Amino acid sequence: MPSMKTEAVPMISARDIRKHFHGTEVLKGVSLDIGKGEVIAVIGPSGSGKSTFLRCLNHLETIDAGSIVIEGETLATTDAAGHCRYAPEAEARRICRKMGMVFQQFNLFPHLTVLQNVIEAPLTVKGLSRDAIVPRAEELLRKVGLIAKCGAYPSQLSGGQKQRVAIARALAMEPDIMLFDEPTSALDPELTGEVLRTMRQLAEERMTMLVVTHEMSFARDVSTEVVFMDHGEIVEARPAAEMFADPRHPRTRCFLEHML
Ligand SMILES: Nc1ncnc2c1ncn2[C@@H]1O[C@H](COP(=O)(O)OP(=O)(O)OP(=O)(O)O)[C@@H](O)[C@H]1O
Ligand SMILES: [Mg+2]
Repeated sequence: MPSMKTEAVPMISARDIRKHFHGTEVLKGVSLDIGKGEVIAVIGPSGSGKSTFLRCLNHLETIDAGSIVIEGETLATTDAAGHCRYAPEAEARRICRKMGMVFQQFNLFPHLTVLQNVIEAPLTVKGLSRDAIVPRAEELLRKVGLIAKCGAYPSQLSGGQKQRVAIARALAMEPDIMLFDEPTSALDPELTGEVLRTMRQLAEERMTMLVVTHEMSFARDVSTEVVFMDHGEIVEARPAAEMFADPRHPRTRCFLEHML
């Protein structure tokens, strides 16, 4: 029977991604589609390949095989002979700019103020004028609750504040998709809430998000789908409510029992 669902182009379509480091296969054929406005939480034990997968999506790592298509544009593809090819460099960069990324360790520029951190990439990469970007940057800082810290340096901020600046900085490039790699793992527990609130707000605004996280409550309450990775494979991918109520795979069940 034909599907009644309208087939929209996925925001990210990753197919059979393989990646090895020094002979060890770290991703063993990972496939995932993300639709517009979806929030996908990626969970799984340490070393299962979560970060590597995320880093492959925006070309911080180069895949060995498989394909990555972002909003219908091919970043990487593998031919029948098994040769993986990337889009030409300028095009690959342009495609990857559709994705903003937030890291566990914030990665702010220490010598720049909060505002300068947020406007840096729009100025240098997009070539926007200061006049165009400063009001937008201020709006983003207001949104993450940090407009009062515009002139502060990262060393003068708490971890939670740094991470909210990092989120504002990623948003300043106007990405269509946000990738988060354990954005709260480096934070003291009392500071995770403010970062999760900012992420929850983004989700409510229908930002497409792929979030590697150990925050099971975020995965359960905010994500549309939860993906469990183990040993370089997606073991189980289910709507969040189902995944937590009724994990099917024994490895998922075992992991969730330890996490919850
Ligand atoms: N640059 C690298 N060089 C060599 N091995 C790497 C590199 N990056 C990751 N690995 C290895 O790949 C495997 C997957 O690592 P990855 O960081 O993707 O796991 P993860 O699921 O994100 O773990 P964690 O929850 O601890 O962040 C690990 O065995 C790791 O040691
Ligand atoms: Mg990781």
